[in-house]
Amino acid sequence: MADSDWNPELYQTSHSFVWQYGRELLALLAPQRVERILDAGCGTGQLTAEIARSGAEVVGIDSSPTMLDQARKNYPDLHFELADVAALEYREEFDGVFSNAALHWVKDAGAAVASISRALKPGGRMVAEFGGRGNVQRLLDAAGLALESLGIRAAGSLNPWYFPSIAEYASLLERSGLSVTYAALFDRLTPLEGGEEGIASWLAMFGGPFRDSLGAGQWEEFVRRTKQHAAPHLLREGQWLADYRRLRVVAIR
Ligand code: BEZ
Repeated sequence: MADSDWNPELYQTSHSFVWQYGRELLALLAPQRVERILDAGCGTGQLTAEIARSGAEVVGIDSSPTMLDQARKNYPDLHFELADVAALEYREEFDGVFSNAALHWVKDAGAAVASISRALKPGGRMVAEFGGRGNVQRLLDAAGLALESLGIRAAGSLNPWYFPSIAEYASLLERSGLSVTYAALFDRLTPLEGGEEGIASWLAMFGGPFRDSLGAGQWEEFVRRTKQHAAPHLLREGQWLADYRRLRVVAIR
């Protein structure tokens, strides 16, 4: 997604569930005070700050300057760097690489995994969670139907995300010299903030790739049609749900 598509305010006000769920993943990381941890895809920095609270030394990286600006404003004492997770320059520097809800944005997953592996010290761990195979499928189907009805062809090719299966991702990790000690794919039906506007807010936050394909003035109609297609599956008593499906992995270098 283009950097200009990221809206840190909307992210912080209406999508806090992203890092609230990430807290469970932090428990799996269990950072220790003597450790050095990389938070890959740190966004606005809330989980980077939680890692720092454990006493570990932490570096937060993100490829969006806009999100990093907000992270630095939120946590001026923490260390954030602009970096592409698929091309990290770190070599055997970290005891742990942590990543929550970020790796599905990196299409070149092989490069990302290799780059993370190089950044880990031997014996270091990667603890990550992101969208797995089938993630937000109902939502994307509804958006695809809306786009097609607006005359956008090949809506499927607008999907900029990488949602792998366990087998696919485990094999990438192993090819980069990591041993997978834990992998799970699980559904997390997630209530969206904003009541009746929940899905509109989600699309405003994450639907940049769709927006780019629409003509001027088509956005509102796109959202209306997406809601219509999604409602039978994702609207329950006025509450919108996102059909998140998470892939969670732990791997050791
Ligand atoms: C996710 O967190 O699963 C996600 C976020 C934005 C777009 C697609 C998926």
